[in-house]
Amino acid sequence: MVQRETWATRAGFILAAVGSAVGLGNIWRFPYQVGEQGGAAFLFIYLLLIVMIGFPVILVEFVVGRNTERNPVGALKRLGSGAWTKIGWVFVTAGFVILSYYSVVAGWTLRYVLLGLQGQYTADGAPAQFGEVATGLDAVLLHAIFMAAVIAIVALGIERGIELSVKVMVPAIIAISIGLAVYAFTLEGAGDAYAYYLSPELSTITSQWTTILPAAAAQAFFTLSLGMGVMITYASYLGEDRNLAEDAGIIAGLDTFIAFLAGLIAFPILFAAGIEPGASGPALIFVSLAAAFAELPLGGILGAIFFGTVAIAALSSAISIMEVVVSYMIDERGVGRVPATVALGVAMFVVGVPAALDLIFIDLYDGFANSILLMLGGLLLSIFVGWIIPDLAIEEVSKGIKDVGSLGVAWLWFIRIPVVLALIVLVALNAWDY
Ligand code: PHE
Ligand code: NA
Repeated sequence: MVQRETWATRAGFILAAVGSAVGLGNIWRFPYQVGEQGGAAFLFIYLLLIVMIGFPVILVEFVVGRNTERNPVGALKRLGSGAWTKIGWVFVTAGFVILSYYSVVAGWTLRYVLLGLQGQYTADGAPAQFGEVATGLDAVLLHAIFMAAVIAIVALGIERGIELSVKVMVPAIIAISIGLAVYAFTLEGAGDAYAYYLSPELSTITSQWTTILPAAAAQAFFTLSLGMGVMITYASYLGEDRNLAEDAGIIAGLDTFIAFLAGLIAFPILFAAGIEPGASGPALIFVSLAAAFAELPLGGILGAIFFGTVAIAALSSAISIMEVVVSYMIDERGVGRVPATVALGVAMFVVGVPAALDLIFIDLYDGFANSILLMLGGLLLSIFVGWIIPDLAIEEVSKGIKDVGSLGVAWLWFIRIPVVLALIVLVALNAWDY
């Protein structure tokens, strides 16, 4: 039997997990969710959920992955029996659906890099321009190009493909995002933008929490790459025993930092151009930001840098989604890495084609996979880890922590009751909404 792959370094693992977390979720989805859900009130609830649900659930996935050194389906087969082993299928299905439309949106970002370089952003024509970019043959072609890049990296394997590429991509994403946020700070109107983004009104929270809460929870799961086994898969390549809680903290912290920065970039640029963030939906960063870039000096270049960063962030996330399904094919089906990656990439491309032809599929896929499958996956896995394998979970989470005391037990009980109950309510609300 071939030796299973592992990360070469601890930094490699963390960068890959951060690369997975930081993506379209932070820079494309987060700002439009803030816009749709009432600005700072959403940000506030979102931050709360990252800490209360996101962080503990990352650990749920980590313990399963590191303990079993298996892909999500295989990990559940090893630890559980009967129906529990089926949770893995929720993950694999979610991965399939998410990557198929994720790649379409990533394709748009490539197109906006080109438009910026050619100086073709327009203020008045932005919605029409987006319509042309987002659907049709061009969109299909760019979707294919992006998927080909994902296939190429994942086919190269953990160390030579994923680890090497994230070592370049992740530092670049962080550095450029900071640079753009500093630039946005210098714009006229930045003050109003910060007020909109940063000072929540209690009345918005109290009157709209039934919609803000489930939307923020779905965003928290998506942005942290939770609920579809990415963190199980990445932790399964961890050789030694290190402090999982520390790694989870770094990953959640950096992801939140980049989402927060995306807001600090997007809102001042929109306000400077006199554009309301409002209910633009998935088009927000494409239509409104491109329109804003059209009005700004050097906007074409800045826009190309911005959208280029989004494309890189999307790539480092997309490879993690692909790796979940590929690791399943390798471990459980005995398929080679290269043929598995190519076959899955082609299949996901095909599933994504409708989304490249009609925007309605983006909403459909996103709503189903994101707000339902991911949270359902996270809920089922939390029940499993909290109630079915508690001793193993405490032992695994405690490894590598000095003076662990009762921290492991506290985490377990937090998963067992508050997290599980909250997720039941939130999944139900999202399903109802869908
Ligand atoms: N976390 C990624 C982002 O924010 C998206 C993602 C979701 C990646 C689920 C993997 C699994 O863009
Ligand atoms: Na993210």
